[in-house]
Amino acid sequence: MAKSKVRIVFLCSSCGNEFAKWNGQCPSCSEWGTLSEYKVNTKSRTRSNGRPRSTTKMVDLLKKGKINRNNTGIPEVDRVLGGGILPGSMILLGGSPGVGKSTLALQIIPGLNSKVLYVSAEESEDQLALRAKRLGIDSNLIHLSTENNAQVILDQVALLKPKLLILDSIQTIYSDNIDSIPGSPGQIRECGQQFLTMSKQNGVSVIVIGHVTKEGIIAGPKMLEHMVDTVLYLEGDPRFDHRVLRSEKNRFGTTNEVGIFQMSKQGLEEVSNPSELFLAERTKEVPGSAVFPALEGTRPILVEVQALVSNANFGTPQRNANGIDYKRLSMFLAVLEKRLGMVMGTKDVFVNLVGGLRISDPTADLAVITALASSAKDIIIPQDTVLVGEVGLVGEVRSVAKLDKRVAETEALGFKQIIVPQSNLKRFKKSNTKIKVIGVSSVKEVFSNLF
Ligand code: TYD
Ligand code: MG
Repeated sequence: MAKSKVRIVFLCSSCGNEFAKWNGQCPSCSEWGTLSEYKVNTKSRTRSNGRPRSTTKMVDLLKKGKINRNNTGIPEVDRVLGGGILPGSMILLGGSPGVGKSTLALQIIPGLNSKVLYVSAEESEDQLALRAKRLGIDSNLIHLSTENNAQVILDQVALLKPKLLILDSIQTIYSDNIDSIPGSPGQIRECGQQFLTMSKQNGVSVIVIGHVTKEGIIAGPKMLEHMVDTVLYLEGDPRFDHRVLRSEKNRFGTTNEVGIFQMSKQGLEEVSNPSELFLAERTKEVPGSAVFPALEGTRPILVEVQALVSNANFGTPQRNANGIDYKRLSMFLAVLEKRLGMVMGTKDVFVNLVGGLRISDPTADLAVITALASSAKDIIIPQDTVLVGEVGLVGEVRSVAKLDKRVAETEALGFKQIIVPQSNLKRFKKSNTKIKVIGVSSVKEVFSNLF
């Protein structure tokens, strides 16, 4: 191919796939209106094309056992990473603006105890230095740069030879190879590829910070997910202090691990017992409160669900779901009305997961529907009881994954009984637990047990 040839491609800002022709709907991820045109310098394309070629090299070295992971010194982070940062690995740290990505990236530096180049085109050197100082980080280890040209950053890396490069954020960095603004899909992919190649060739670990915006105005870091070895997302409701660090992909460890932190004046602090955090303010002896064991990654967390059902006095009844899916709430109300003969159509209904947690896991179903009934009937669910199970359309209780872990956490926190799906009990050894495990097959059965 001729050196100077420029090719036109269409990139999807949602999934990052590339197409030769424009389409209203992305043929790969089915999103509408996400394809846009990019001019690609074919010389750079052939160099940076495709998946990381040297990943096999990483695996070989791993088998040889010559590589040690670098611990960050923050156990919650190390656990999510699968034991620390591997040399030559690329980690994507995504999250909405202001959630604490820069703070977390700075905080892992002291524990690594090696040379780090922190590139931030978002904040000034003074701002960064001040923040690092506030977080108590030894400034000897960090080299700050506010450069945003990928080639210049790569030169700085070659000169400084750091163990870790932090790019804060990928949306502000641009490459001369691509004719579009920083943050566009083409730029993100090109820059991602350049840093990936450097990382694999020189064994420099790279943490790429990426902002996620709901509107998708700035190309999300989604497209980087295919490229990098590990994908971490930092999540949190701005109204609350706690932050959840989630691993969505990990070539060198387990996925779906979470770390829980609390944002404080000293930055992010680890929360080693999240169940206690989420149950700390539990109001005792009131109808409408239920507890269930959510599973965040491999770790169970006990969470309180609150429901309030009251007569709607004015016009259309209100429905409000905080932390659970609104459609699921509608389904629970229909099940209560149709299968259990409870009148819900004329009621205002509010459901809230305490602590601003957000659960998409259907294992919360049984606790939510029981909390709703508890509030409607004005009968308390016993304090020492935890519920877990998915609820189906005919009011049946369906099995959940990893029941043993959920039961163990429930027992550890001093609860006396747990109501679980009957179908789970075939494979569950009750004899291993001290807590009373009650199997149920329908919501009706739960209610006749409790109310
Ligand atoms: P930041 O790391 O800048 O978020 P991101 O890089 O994801 O955009 O952190 C943003 C918020 O965190 C900011 O509103 C202030 C708060 N914060 C603390 O509460 N304590 C601290 O020690 C620090 C450094 C930040
Ligand atoms: Mg930041």
